[in-house]
Amino acid sequence: MSERHPSTLAPDAARSPAEPPAIELIDVVKEYGGGVRALDHVSLVVKKGEFVALSGPSGCGKSTLLHLIAALDRPTEGIVRVNGRNLAHIHDLSGFRRLEVGLVFQLHNLLPRISVVANVEIAMYGTHRNSDARRERAMELLEEVDLAGRADRLPTQLSGGERQRVAIARSLANDPAVLLADEPTGNLDAESAHRIMALFARLQHRGMTVLLVTHDLGLASMADRLERIEAGRIVTPRHGEGARSSPGDGPAPMAEERAG
Ligand SMILES: Nc1ncnc2c1ncn2[C@@H]1O[C@H](COP(=O)(O)OP(=O)(O)OP(=O)(O)O)[C@@H](O)[C@H]1O
Ligand SMILES: [Mg+2]
Repeated sequence: MSERHPSTLAPDAARSPAEPPAIELIDVVKEYGGGVRALDHVSLVVKKGEFVALSGPSGCGKSTLLHLIAALDRPTEGIVRVNGRNLAHIHDLSGFRRLEVGLVFQLHNLLPRISVVANVEIAMYGTHRNSDARRERAMELLEEVDLAGRADRLPTQLSGGERQRVAIARSLANDPAVLLADEPTGNLDAESAHRIMALFARLQHRGMTVLLVTHDLGLASMADRLERIEAGRIVTPRHGEGARSSPGDGPAPMAEERAG
């Protein structure tokens, strides 16, 4: 079910019609205590290999939505499916969280007292990888986000953009089919933000599904599609607004990412 597509194929080329969407929310309501309705009958489908941006005002429910998809919380009503599996029926939710979705939090949550490479390795504890394999994989990921040279530093010795890239490396450790990123470019300068977007575009090109929360409509335009959420409801943007107009008709944009 989590089979990947060869990276040479365009994101939509090899998909069979019977394949379930990567993410599916059906009429989801999320209420918190005190009568707060964070999500109000939200339905959303993200196909495998799609790169979808989600925007909306502060407090509209974006993080809540990602948390439900990552099984960090349960909906009050409605159904959440990831790769065709109803999360309400999964018994091993911690295994699901560890292996099937990568989550980059709004605040990056790195552990401050251990090195950058150890922060990435932690995501692989409890998996089949032994400590040598964890180290090797962590270094490979730090290479990917252009931070191999910072592996032995503490997170506090990195810039905000670098920390965010470590958090992304950590989220990719177990090769999840779905990446959920909550405002990963908030507070970053334009160049750092573009590098992160270019990384997401590369991941999408390899077959990963990406759901990105961002307030920056310029960055959102690098996604296939923009979904807007207001007061807990999905509101469809006007055609062509803020997102690539013809998804899947060529390689994803790479911005100014360096080769190699
Ligand atoms: N644990 C919680 N308990 C009670 N209310 C909550 C909780 N988490 C979020 N909320 C409320 O739910 C609503 C949606 O919050 P959410 O964090 O999803 O917003 P958001 O769109 O991510 O906002 P931002 O852009 O500021 O991050 C808000 O009104 C918020 O105050
Ligand atoms: Mg949020």
